[in-house]
Amino acid sequence: MTIKLNDPTLLKTQAFIDGKWVDADSGETFAVTNPATGEHLADVASVGAGETRRAIEAGEQAMADWKALPPKTRCDLLEKWYQLMLDNTEDLATIMTAEQGKTLAESRGEVGYGASFIKWFAEEGKRVYGDIIPSTPDRRGVVIKQPVGVVAAITPWNFPNAMITRKAGPALAVGCAIVLKPAAETPLSALALVELADRAGLPAGLFSVLPSANAAEVGGEMTSNTTVKKVTFTGSTPVGKLLMKQCADTVKRTSMELGGNAPVIVFDDADLDQAVAGALVAKYRNSGQTCICANRLLVQEGIYDAFVEKFAAAVAEFRIGNGFEAATTHGPVITEKAAAEIHAKVQNAVEEGATVIIGGQPGEQGGSFYQPTVLTDVNDQMRVFREEIFGPVAPVFKFSTEQEAVRMANDTEFGLAAYLYTENLGRIWRVSEAIDYGMVGVNETAISSEIIPFGGVKESGQGREGSKYGLDDYLETKYICMGGLNR
Ligand code: SIN
Repeated sequence: MTIKLNDPTLLKTQAFIDGKWVDADSGETFAVTNPATGEHLADVASVGAGETRRAIEAGEQAMADWKALPPKTRCDLLEKWYQLMLDNTEDLATIMTAEQGKTLAESRGEVGYGASFIKWFAEEGKRVYGDIIPSTPDRRGVVIKQPVGVVAAITPWNFPNAMITRKAGPALAVGCAIVLKPAAETPLSALALVELADRAGLPAGLFSVLPSANAAEVGGEMTSNTTVKKVTFTGSTPVGKLLMKQCADTVKRTSMELGGNAPVIVFDDADLDQAVAGALVAKYRNSGQTCICANRLLVQEGIYDAFVEKFAAAVAEFRIGNGFEAATTHGPVITEKAAAEIHAKVQNAVEEGATVIIGGQPGEQGGSFYQPTVLTDVNDQMRVFREEIFGPVAPVFKFSTEQEAVRMANDTEFGLAAYLYTENLGRIWRVSEAIDYGMVGVNETAISSEIIPFGGVKESGQGREGSKYGLDDYLETKYICMGGLNR
Protein backbone atom coordinates (compact mmCIF):
# COMPACT_ATOMS: atom_id res chain seq x y z
CA MET A 1 0.00 0.00 0.00
CA THR A 2 1.55 3.28 -1.05
CA ILE A 3 -0.77 5.91 0.44
CA LYS A 4 0.97 7.47 3.45
CA LEU A 5 -1.49 8.66 6.10
CA ASN A 6 -1.21 10.15 9.59
CA ASP A 7 -3.76 7.52 10.58
CA PRO A 8 -3.14 4.43 8.42
CA THR A 9 -6.24 2.73 9.89
CA LEU A 10 -8.37 5.01 7.70
CA LEU A 11 -7.30 3.02 4.69
CA LYS A 12 -9.90 0.26 4.37
CA THR A 13 -10.24 -2.32 1.65
CA GLN A 14 -13.19 -4.41 2.86
CA ALA A 15 -16.90 -3.71 2.57
CA PHE A 16 -18.67 -2.25 5.61
CA ILE A 17 -21.96 -4.09 6.22
CA ASP A 18 -24.09 -3.95 9.35
CA GLY A 19 -21.30 -2.34 11.34
CA LYS A 20 -18.64 -4.88 10.35
CA TRP A 21 -15.72 -4.91 7.92
CA VAL A 22 -16.14 -7.93 5.65
CA ASP A 23 -14.65 -9.51 2.53
CA ALA A 24 -16.82 -10.24 -0.48
CA ASP A 25 -18.64 -13.59 -0.20
CA SER A 26 -16.88 -14.63 -3.39
CA GLY A 27 -13.51 -13.44 -2.11
CA GLU A 28 -13.25 -11.28 -5.23
CA THR A 29 -11.46 -7.94 -5.24
CA PHE A 30 -10.83 -5.18 -7.73
CA ALA A 31 -7.82 -2.93 -8.17
CA VAL A 32 -7.79 0.80 -7.40
CA THR A 33 -5.12 2.81 -9.21
CA ASN A 34 -3.75 6.33 -9.13
CA PRO A 35 -4.81 8.04 -12.39
CA ALA A 36 -1.76 10.32 -12.32
CA THR A 37 0.85 7.57 -12.07
CA GLY A 38 -0.95 4.35 -12.91
CA GLU A 39 0.32 3.05 -9.58
CA HIS A 40 -1.65 0.23 -7.96
CA LEU A 41 -3.08 1.54 -4.67
CA ALA A 42 -5.20 -1.26 -3.26
CA ASP A 43 -7.32 -4.33 -3.92
CA VAL A 44 -10.81 -3.73 -2.61
CA ALA A 45 -13.58 -6.26 -1.86
CA SER A 46 -16.00 -6.59 -4.76
CA VAL A 47 -19.41 -7.45 -3.33
CA GLY A 48 -22.47 -8.74 -5.15
CA ALA A 49 -26.22 -9.10 -4.73
CA GLY A 50 -26.09 -11.25 -1.58
CA GLU A 51 -24.06 -8.75 0.45
CA THR A 52 -26.25 -5.92 -0.88
CA ARG A 53 -29.36 -7.76 0.34
CA ARG A 54 -27.83 -8.23 3.80
CA ALA A 55 -26.90 -4.56 4.01
CA ILE A 56 -30.47 -3.57 3.09
CA GLU A 57 -31.94 -5.92 5.72
CA ALA A 58 -29.54 -4.55 8.34
CA GLY A 59 -30.58 -1.03 7.35
CA GLU A 60 -34.25 -1.83 7.85
CA GLN A 61 -33.59 -3.21 11.33
CA ALA A 62 -31.34 -0.35 12.38
CA MET A 63 -33.81 2.25 11.13
CA ALA A 64 -36.52 1.14 13.55
CA ASP A 65 -34.65 2.58 16.57
CA TRP A 66 -32.88 5.38 14.70
CA LYS A 67 -36.02 7.06 13.38
CA ALA A 68 -37.58 6.96 16.87
CA LEU A 69 -34.71 8.95 18.41
CA PRO A 70 -35.20 12.64 19.17
CA PRO A 71 -33.89 14.63 16.16
CA LYS A 72 -31.43 16.34 18.49
CA THR A 73 -29.81 13.00 19.33
CA ARG A 74 -29.36 12.24 15.64
CA CYS A 75 -28.02 15.77 15.17
CA ASP A 76 -25.43 15.38 17.94
CA LEU A 77 -24.15 12.16 16.45
CA LEU A 78 -23.93 13.55 12.92
CA GLU A 79 -22.05 16.55 14.28
CA LYS A 80 -19.47 14.20 15.78
CA TRP A 81 -19.03 12.64 12.34
CA TYR A 82 -18.67 16.12 10.82
CA GLN A 83 -15.98 17.01 13.34
CA LEU A 84 -14.09 13.77 12.68
CA MET A 85 -14.10 14.56 8.96
CA LEU A 86 -12.59 17.97 9.63
CA ASP A 87 -10.05 16.53 12.09
CA ASN A 88 -8.96 14.05 9.42
CA THR A 89 -8.99 16.43 6.47
CA GLU A 90 -5.38 15.78 5.53
CA ASP A 91 -5.79 12.01 5.38
CA LEU A 92 -9.13 12.16 3.54
CA ALA A 93 -7.60 14.57 1.03
CA THR A 94 -4.55 12.37 0.56
CA ILE A 95 -6.72 9.34 -0.16
CA MET A 96 -8.80 11.39 -2.59
CA THR A 97 -5.86 12.76 -4.56
CA ALA A 98 -4.32 9.31 -4.75
CA GLU A 99 -7.40 7.60 -6.18
CA GLN A 100 -9.08 10.47 -8.06
CA GLY A 101 -6.18 12.58 -9.26
CA LYS A 102 -7.40 16.07 -8.32
CA THR A 103 -4.88 18.38 -6.71
CA LEU A 104 -4.39 18.21 -2.97
CA ALA A 105 -5.80 21.73 -2.64
CA GLU A 106 -8.96 20.65 -4.46
CA SER A 107 -9.20 17.53 -2.33
CA ARG A 108 -8.89 19.53 0.90
CA GLY A 109 -11.59 21.83 -0.42
CA GLU A 110 -13.83 18.88 -1.20
CA VAL A 111 -13.42 17.41 2.29
CA GLY A 112 -14.66 20.71 3.75
CA TYR A 113 -17.47 20.83 1.17
CA GLY A 114 -18.45 17.23 1.91
CA ALA A 115 -18.39 17.75 5.66
CA SER A 116 -20.57 20.86 5.33
CA PHE A 117 -23.49 18.70 4.15
CA ILE A 118 -23.32 16.64 7.34
CA LYS A 119 -23.29 19.74 9.52
CA TRP A 120 -26.10 21.37 7.54
CA PHE A 121 -28.40 18.37 7.53
CA ALA A 122 -27.65 17.52 11.17
CA GLU A 123 -29.26 20.88 11.96
CA GLU A 124 -31.99 20.73 9.32
CA GLY A 125 -33.10 17.33 10.63
CA LYS A 126 -34.45 19.17 13.68
CA ARG A 127 -36.74 21.23 11.43
CA VAL A 128 -38.91 18.58 9.82
CA TYR A 129 -42.17 20.44 10.30
CA GLY A 130 -45.72 19.45 9.37
CA ASP A 131 -48.99 21.37 8.94
CA ILE A 132 -52.43 21.62 10.44
CA ILE A 133 -55.11 22.22 7.83
CA PRO A 134 -58.34 23.89 8.97
CA SER A 135 -61.33 21.84 7.90
CA THR A 136 -64.95 21.38 9.10
CA PRO A 137 -65.67 22.29 12.75
CA ASP A 138 -65.25 18.72 13.92
CA ARG A 139 -62.07 17.86 12.05
CA ARG A 140 -58.55 19.01 11.29
CA GLY A 141 -56.12 17.78 8.71
CA VAL A 142 -52.72 17.02 10.17
CA VAL A 143 -49.74 16.61 7.87
CA ILE A 144 -46.64 14.89 9.17
CA LYS A 145 -43.35 14.03 7.46
CA GLN A 146 -41.75 10.65 7.96
CA PRO A 147 -38.49 9.08 6.77
CA VAL A 148 -38.95 7.49 3.37
CA GLY A 149 -37.33 4.17 4.41
CA VAL A 150 -34.10 2.41 3.47
CA VAL A 151 -32.26 4.49 0.88
CA ALA A 152 -29.89 3.06 -1.74
CA ALA A 153 -27.28 5.46 -3.10
CA ILE A 154 -24.93 5.16 -6.07
CA THR A 155 -22.24 7.81 -6.28
CA PRO A 156 -19.64 8.92 -8.84
CA TRP A 157 -15.86 9.23 -8.85
CA ASN A 158 -15.59 12.96 -9.63
CA PHE A 159 -16.42 14.00 -6.03
CA PRO A 160 -15.64 10.86 -4.02
CA ASN A 161 -16.60 12.51 -0.72
CA ALA A 162 -19.17 15.28 -1.23
CA MET A 163 -21.52 13.30 -3.48
CA ILE A 164 -21.81 10.76 -0.65
CA THR A 165 -22.33 13.19 2.20
CA ARG A 166 -25.04 15.15 0.45
CA LYS A 167 -27.06 11.95 0.23
CA ALA A 168 -26.09 10.34 3.54
CA GLY A 169 -26.52 13.62 5.47
CA PRO A 170 -30.23 14.18 4.78
CA ALA A 171 -31.07 10.45 4.78
CA LEU A 172 -29.58 9.86 8.23
CA ALA A 173 -30.74 13.19 9.65
CA VAL A 174 -34.42 12.42 9.06
CA GLY A 175 -34.18 8.83 10.32
CA CYS A 176 -33.44 6.70 7.23
CA ALA A 177 -30.77 4.04 6.79
CA ILE A 178 -28.56 4.20 3.71
CA VAL A 179 -26.68 1.61 1.68
CA LEU A 180 -24.09 3.02 -0.67
CA LYS A 181 -22.26 1.78 -3.73
CA PRO A 182 -19.35 4.16 -4.36
CA ALA A 183 -17.71 4.40 -7.77
CA ALA A 184 -15.27 1.57 -8.46
CA GLU A 185 -12.56 4.15 -9.29
CA THR A 186 -12.78 5.83 -5.86
CA PRO A 187 -14.00 3.44 -3.14
CA LEU A 188 -11.24 4.30 -0.63
CA SER A 189 -12.70 7.75 0.14
CA ALA A 190 -16.11 6.20 0.82
CA LEU A 191 -14.64 3.53 3.08
CA ALA A 192 -12.69 6.12 5.08
CA LEU A 193 -15.88 8.15 5.48
CA VAL A 194 -17.86 5.24 6.87
CA GLU A 195 -14.98 4.36 9.22
CA LEU A 196 -15.29 7.88 10.65
CA ALA A 197 -19.09 7.53 10.90
CA ASP A 198 -18.53 4.34 12.87
CA ARG A 199 -16.04 6.10 15.15
CA ALA A 200 -18.62 8.85 15.69
CA GLY A 201 -20.93 6.16 17.08
CA LEU A 202 -23.40 5.67 14.22
CA PRO A 203 -25.35 2.51 15.12
CA ALA A 204 -24.54 -0.64 13.16
CA GLY A 205 -26.54 -1.17 9.98
CA LEU A 206 -27.49 2.46 9.37
CA PHE A 207 -24.79 3.13 6.82
CA SER A 208 -23.32 0.26 4.82
CA VAL A 209 -20.77 0.75 2.05
CA LEU A 210 -20.68 -1.76 -0.79
CA PRO A 211 -17.65 -1.44 -3.05
CA SER A 212 -18.01 -3.47 -6.21
CA ALA A 213 -16.67 -3.87 -9.70
CA ASN A 214 -20.07 -5.30 -10.62
CA ALA A 215 -22.31 -2.24 -10.70
CA ALA A 216 -25.11 -4.05 -12.54
CA GLU A 217 -25.41 -6.71 -9.85
CA VAL A 218 -25.38 -4.33 -6.87
CA GLY A 219 -27.62 -1.81 -8.68
CA GLY A 220 -29.96 -4.61 -9.73
CA GLU A 221 -30.46 -5.68 -6.11
CA MET A 222 -30.86 -2.09 -4.91
CA THR A 223 -33.52 -1.29 -7.50
CA SER A 224 -35.48 -4.55 -7.20
CA ASN A 225 -35.40 -5.08 -3.43
CA THR A 226 -38.80 -4.11 -1.99
CA THR A 227 -37.26 -2.96 1.31
CA VAL A 228 -35.47 -0.15 -0.51
CA LYS A 229 -37.90 2.73 -0.79
CA LYS A 230 -35.69 5.22 -2.53
CA VAL A 231 -32.76 5.22 -4.94
CA THR A 232 -30.56 8.28 -5.24
CA PHE A 233 -27.96 8.47 -7.99
CA THR A 234 -25.38 10.91 -9.24
CA GLY A 235 -23.87 10.02 -12.60
CA SER A 236 -24.55 9.86 -16.30
CA THR A 237 -27.97 10.34 -17.88
CA PRO A 238 -28.00 6.91 -19.61
CA VAL A 239 -27.33 5.11 -16.31
CA GLY A 240 -29.89 7.32 -14.53
CA LYS A 241 -32.53 6.38 -17.08
CA LEU A 242 -31.73 2.69 -16.64
CA LEU A 243 -32.02 2.95 -12.85
CA MET A 244 -35.34 4.79 -13.17
CA LYS A 245 -36.67 2.02 -15.40
CA GLN A 246 -35.50 -0.60 -12.91
CA CYS A 247 -37.11 1.32 -10.03
CA ALA A 248 -40.44 1.50 -11.84
CA ASP A 249 -41.30 -2.14 -11.09
CA THR A 250 -41.46 -1.46 -7.35
CA VAL A 251 -42.50 2.22 -7.74
CA LYS A 252 -39.53 3.53 -5.78
CA ARG A 253 -38.88 7.19 -5.20
CA THR A 254 -35.81 8.36 -7.11
CA SER A 255 -33.48 11.36 -7.05
CA MET A 256 -31.31 11.72 -10.13
CA GLU A 257 -28.42 14.14 -10.49
CA LEU A 258 -27.37 13.46 -14.07
CA GLY A 259 -25.40 14.94 -16.95
CA GLY A 260 -25.12 18.58 -17.90
CA ASN A 261 -24.22 20.76 -20.86
CA ALA A 262 -23.73 24.07 -19.08
CA PRO A 263 -23.48 27.26 -21.11
CA VAL A 264 -21.53 30.28 -19.85
CA ILE A 265 -23.16 33.20 -21.70
CA VAL A 266 -20.95 36.29 -21.87
CA PHE A 267 -22.64 39.43 -23.19
CA ASP A 268 -20.87 42.43 -24.70
CA ASP A 269 -21.61 44.50 -21.60
CA ALA A 270 -20.02 41.98 -19.21
CA ASP A 271 -17.05 42.83 -17.01
CA LEU A 272 -14.44 41.02 -19.14
CA ASP A 273 -12.02 40.14 -16.31
CA GLN A 274 -14.82 38.85 -14.13
CA ALA A 275 -16.26 36.79 -17.00
CA VAL A 276 -12.89 35.25 -17.89
CA ALA A 277 -12.14 34.41 -14.25
CA GLY A 278 -15.59 32.87 -13.76
CA ALA A 279 -15.44 30.87 -17.00
CA LEU A 280 -12.00 29.49 -16.08
CA VAL A 281 -13.34 28.18 -12.78
CA ALA A 282 -16.51 26.83 -14.37
CA LYS A 283 -14.59 25.06 -17.11
CA TYR A 284 -11.45 23.70 -15.47
CA ARG A 285 -12.54 22.88 -11.90
CA ASN A 286 -11.65 19.23 -11.24
CA SER A 287 -10.02 19.18 -14.71
CA GLY A 288 -13.40 19.72 -16.33
CA GLN A 289 -14.99 16.74 -14.60
CA THR A 290 -18.05 18.15 -12.86
CA CYS A 291 -21.67 17.94 -13.98
CA ILE A 292 -21.92 21.72 -13.72
CA CYS A 293 -18.69 22.45 -15.58
CA ALA A 294 -19.00 24.95 -18.40
CA ASN A 295 -19.44 22.80 -21.49
CA ARG A 296 -20.08 25.61 -23.95
CA LEU A 297 -18.77 29.17 -23.70
CA LEU A 298 -21.24 31.38 -25.62
CA VAL A 299 -19.66 34.79 -26.16
CA GLN A 300 -21.25 37.79 -27.88
CA GLU A 301 -19.52 38.98 -31.06
CA GLY A 302 -18.44 42.40 -29.73
CA ILE A 303 -16.40 40.94 -26.87
CA TYR A 304 -15.51 37.59 -28.48
CA ASP A 305 -11.91 38.24 -29.59
CA ALA A 306 -10.90 39.98 -26.36
CA PHE A 307 -12.47 37.17 -24.33
CA VAL A 308 -10.69 34.40 -26.26
CA GLU A 309 -7.34 36.16 -25.97
CA LYS A 310 -7.55 36.64 -22.20
CA PHE A 311 -9.06 33.23 -21.58
CA ALA A 312 -6.43 31.37 -23.60
CA ALA A 313 -3.62 33.38 -21.98
CA ALA A 314 -4.83 32.27 -18.55
CA VAL A 315 -5.11 28.64 -19.70
CA ALA A 316 -1.52 28.79 -20.94
CA GLU A 317 -0.45 29.30 -17.30
CA PHE A 318 -1.99 26.01 -16.15
CA ARG A 319 0.34 23.19 -15.13
CA ILE A 320 -1.08 19.70 -15.43
CA GLY A 321 0.56 17.00 -13.36
CA ASN A 322 0.43 14.80 -10.31
CA GLY A 323 -2.01 16.32 -7.79
CA PHE A 324 0.49 15.77 -4.96
CA GLU A 325 3.04 18.14 -6.57
CA ALA A 326 2.81 21.76 -5.41
CA ALA A 327 3.26 23.24 -8.90
CA THR A 328 0.31 21.30 -10.33
CA THR A 329 -2.78 23.39 -11.00
CA HIS A 330 -4.80 20.62 -12.67
CA GLY A 331 -4.64 16.86 -12.32
CA PRO A 332 -5.30 14.14 -14.89
CA VAL A 333 -8.74 12.97 -15.95
CA ILE A 334 -9.96 9.80 -14.32
CA THR A 335 -8.78 7.14 -16.81
CA GLU A 336 -6.94 6.73 -20.10
CA LYS A 337 -10.29 5.76 -21.63
CA ALA A 338 -11.78 9.08 -20.49
CA ALA A 339 -8.82 10.96 -22.01
CA ALA A 340 -9.34 9.10 -25.29
CA GLU A 341 -13.05 9.98 -25.32
CA ILE A 342 -12.25 13.65 -24.73
CA HIS A 343 -9.73 13.57 -27.56
CA ALA A 344 -12.29 11.99 -29.90
CA LYS A 345 -14.62 14.98 -29.29
CA VAL A 346 -11.80 17.43 -29.97
CA GLN A 347 -10.85 15.58 -33.15
CA ASN A 348 -14.47 15.63 -34.30
CA ALA A 349 -14.54 19.43 -33.82
CA VAL A 350 -11.22 19.88 -35.65
CA GLU A 351 -12.37 17.70 -38.55
CA GLU A 352 -15.50 19.89 -38.77
CA GLY A 353 -13.43 23.09 -38.95
CA ALA A 354 -12.60 24.10 -35.35
CA THR A 355 -9.36 25.96 -34.62
CA VAL A 356 -7.24 24.82 -31.67
CA ILE A 357 -6.06 27.97 -29.85
CA ILE A 358 -4.23 26.00 -27.18
CA GLY A 359 -3.95 22.31 -26.21
CA GLY A 360 -5.95 19.86 -28.28
CA GLN A 361 -3.82 16.80 -27.52
CA PRO A 362 -3.38 14.15 -24.81
CA GLY A 363 -0.97 15.36 -22.14
CA GLU A 364 2.75 14.86 -22.70
CA GLN A 365 2.81 12.79 -19.50
CA GLY A 366 0.66 10.21 -21.33
CA GLY A 367 -1.83 8.00 -19.49
CA SER A 368 -4.83 9.88 -18.17
CA PHE A 369 -3.59 13.38 -18.87
CA TYR A 370 -5.26 15.73 -21.32
CA GLN A 371 -4.06 19.20 -22.23
CA PRO A 372 -6.22 22.15 -21.18
CA THR A 373 -7.74 23.11 -24.51
CA VAL A 374 -9.48 26.11 -26.09
CA LEU A 375 -11.32 25.79 -29.41
CA THR A 376 -12.77 28.49 -31.65
CA ASP A 377 -14.62 28.30 -35.02
CA VAL A 378 -16.97 25.85 -33.41
CA ASN A 379 -20.64 25.32 -34.27
CA ASP A 380 -23.77 23.65 -32.97
CA GLN A 381 -23.35 20.54 -35.12
CA MET A 382 -20.17 19.47 -33.36
CA ARG A 383 -20.04 16.93 -30.55
CA VAL A 384 -18.55 19.57 -28.23
CA PHE A 385 -21.85 21.49 -28.50
CA ARG A 386 -24.18 18.50 -28.16
CA GLU A 387 -22.39 16.22 -25.67
CA GLU A 388 -21.02 16.58 -22.17
CA ILE A 389 -17.22 16.83 -22.63
CA PHE A 390 -16.28 16.02 -19.00
CA GLY A 391 -12.73 17.16 -19.55
CA PRO A 392 -10.57 20.29 -19.80
CA VAL A 393 -11.79 21.44 -23.23
CA ALA A 394 -13.42 24.84 -23.77
CA PRO A 395 -15.21 25.42 -27.08
CA VAL A 396 -15.98 29.14 -27.48
CA PHE A 397 -19.08 29.81 -29.60
CA LYS A 398 -20.05 33.22 -31.02
CA PHE A 399 -23.54 34.72 -30.89
CA SER A 400 -25.08 38.05 -31.98
CA THR A 401 -28.30 38.67 -30.06
CA GLU A 402 -29.80 37.86 -26.68
CA GLN A 403 -32.47 35.72 -28.38
CA GLU A 404 -29.80 33.72 -30.16
CA ALA A 405 -27.93 33.15 -26.88
CA VAL A 406 -31.09 31.89 -25.18
CA ARG A 407 -31.87 29.62 -28.13
CA MET A 408 -28.34 28.17 -28.10
CA ALA A 409 -28.38 27.72 -24.32
CA ASN A 410 -31.66 25.80 -24.50
CA ASP A 411 -30.68 23.74 -27.55
CA THR A 412 -29.83 20.65 -25.51
CA GLU A 413 -31.65 17.85 -23.70
CA PHE A 414 -29.76 18.80 -20.52
CA GLY A 415 -30.71 21.45 -17.94
CA LEU A 416 -28.45 21.39 -14.90
CA ALA A 417 -26.47 24.64 -14.50
CA ALA A 418 -26.05 27.74 -16.67
CA TYR A 419 -24.13 30.96 -16.11
CA LEU A 420 -24.42 34.45 -17.54
CA TYR A 421 -22.24 37.52 -17.43
CA THR A 422 -23.85 40.91 -18.06
CA GLU A 423 -24.20 44.23 -16.27
CA ASN A 424 -27.75 44.75 -17.57
CA LEU A 425 -30.30 44.12 -14.82
CA GLY A 426 -33.23 43.64 -17.20
CA ARG A 427 -31.25 41.10 -19.19
CA ILE A 428 -30.27 39.25 -16.02
CA TRP A 429 -33.94 38.66 -15.24
CA ARG A 430 -35.03 37.97 -18.83
CA VAL A 431 -32.31 35.44 -19.52
CA SER A 432 -32.40 33.78 -16.09
CA GLU A 433 -36.11 33.14 -16.56
CA ALA A 434 -35.88 32.11 -20.22
CA ILE A 435 -33.23 29.43 -19.92
CA ASP A 436 -34.33 25.93 -18.92
CA TYR A 437 -31.89 25.08 -16.14
CA GLY A 438 -32.22 24.08 -12.50
CA MET A 439 -29.44 26.49 -11.44
CA VAL A 440 -28.33 29.81 -12.90
CA GLY A 441 -25.19 31.67 -11.87
CA VAL A 442 -25.36 35.41 -12.58
CA ASN A 443 -21.91 37.01 -12.75
CA GLU A 444 -20.75 34.02 -10.66
CA THR A 445 -19.82 30.44 -11.43
CA ALA A 446 -18.86 29.13 -7.96
CA ILE A 447 -22.50 28.36 -7.18
CA SER A 448 -22.25 25.13 -5.17
CA SER A 449 -22.59 24.87 -1.42
CA GLU A 450 -24.58 22.98 1.19
CA ILE A 451 -27.10 25.83 1.57
CA ILE A 452 -28.41 25.86 -2.01
CA PRO A 453 -30.79 23.47 -3.83
CA PHE A 454 -28.54 21.66 -6.30
CA GLY A 455 -30.30 19.87 -9.15
CA GLY A 456 -31.46 19.96 -12.72
CA VAL A 457 -34.40 19.84 -15.09
CA LYS A 458 -34.98 18.01 -18.39
CA GLU A 459 -32.62 15.04 -18.77
CA SER A 460 -30.29 16.41 -16.08
CA GLY A 461 -32.46 14.81 -13.46
CA GLN A 462 -34.94 15.38 -10.70
CA GLY A 463 -34.80 16.16 -7.00
CA ARG A 464 -32.62 18.63 -5.13
CA GLU A 465 -29.59 18.15 -2.90
CA GLY A 466 -28.54 20.57 -0.17
CA SER A 467 -30.57 23.42 1.37
CA LYS A 468 -33.89 22.98 3.18
CA TYR A 469 -35.28 21.42 -0.04
CA GLY A 470 -32.76 18.59 0.16
CA LEU A 471 -34.66 17.02 3.06
CA ASP A 472 -37.84 16.55 1.02
CA ASP A 473 -36.23 13.86 -1.09
CA TYR A 474 -35.91 11.66 2.02
CA LEU A 475 -39.36 12.31 3.49
CA GLU A 476 -42.85 11.02 2.87
CA THR A 477 -45.83 13.27 3.50
CA LYS A 478 -48.60 11.68 5.54
CA TYR A 479 -52.06 13.17 6.00
CA ILE A 480 -53.91 12.29 9.20
CA CYS A 481 -57.58 13.29 9.34
CA MET A 482 -58.42 14.13 12.97
CA GLY A 483 -62.18 13.77 13.23
CA GLY A 484 -64.81 13.80 15.95
CA LEU A 485 -63.53 17.00 17.57
CA ASN A 486 -67.07 18.00 18.65
CA ARG A 487 -67.49 14.97 20.86
C1 SIN B 1 -21.29 17.29 -9.68
O1 SIN B 1 -20.41 17.33 -10.52
O2 SIN B 1 -22.22 16.51 -9.81
C2 SIN B 1 -21.28 18.13 -8.43
C3 SIN B 1 -20.62 19.42 -8.54
C4 SIN B 1 -20.80 20.28 -7.31
O3 SIN B 1 -21.33 19.85 -6.28
O4 SIN B 1 -20.41 21.44 -7.38
